[in-house]
Amino acid sequence: MTHPIGIDFGGSGIKAAPVDLSRGDFAADRERIPTPEHSTPKAVADVMAALVDRFPEATGPVGVTIPGVVRSGVVHSAANIDKGWIGTDADALLTDRLGRDVHVVNDADAAGVAELRYGAAKGRTGLVILTTLGTGIGSALLYNGVLVPNSELGHLEIDGHVAEKRAAASIMTNEELSWKQYADRLTTYYRMLEKLFSPDLFVVGGGVSKDATEFLPLLEIETEIVPATLRNRARIIGAAVITSE
Ligand code: BGC
Repeated sequence: MTHPIGIDFGGSGIKAAPVDLSRGDFAADRERIPTPEHSTPKAVADVMAALVDRFPEATGPVGVTIPGVVRSGVVHSAANIDKGWIGTDADALLTDRLGRDVHVVNDADAAGVAELRYGAAKGRTGLVILTTLGTGIGSALLYNGVLVPNSELGHLEIDGHVAEKRAAASIMTNEELSWKQYADRLTTYYRMLEKLFSPDLFVVGGGVSKDATEFLPLLEIETEIVPATLRNRARIIGAAVITSE
């Protein structure tokens, strides 16, 4: 079985699965290990090595998502992870630690690529913007099927606040917002994206997208907006796609 492995580095868990690229789905059940309290590059690399060991039959390359800016394998931001990642050549570190060919990619970019290839944005042209609503807000810009990486649209400013500090799903939980209150925040956010980018489609990912019927109908925006369909498999699948290209 030469399937690539996708690994998703999240705030609470690090998850991995071999991916069957012909089907766009996991080739075996996903494995998860909690994210170390101090999510330093070394600690996280150790967890990823343990996860890869659980799939001895998946011998392909490994794709890894990082919740930060990644350029040429080097991590350049770390809003919600240990700051030790900044400046780390994660491709080199993980290739060395895992003894495999490893490519790292921004987590939202990975989800965007997966939704484009197998999910909610399949067959769509023009400008698709995927936003992931979770601990922070991640974004993927996809134009005519091509990813423009590291768009970081969760860090735009709304009324003097970083957007992800106003409209991430975690903010709804922390501030105990109702669906209506949360939808109002999202309306402000997506209207700004409309003004700046005039997209053809928004795709909404992140855990909260499973409750899309609660808040998407409350949004007052012009652009078509749909929930992601690959849900929490998108980042792992997208990382495996990108590492195999
Ligand atoms: C990071 C992004 C990431 C997003 C979702 C943001 O804080 O800056 O790179 O995609 O969180 O994890």
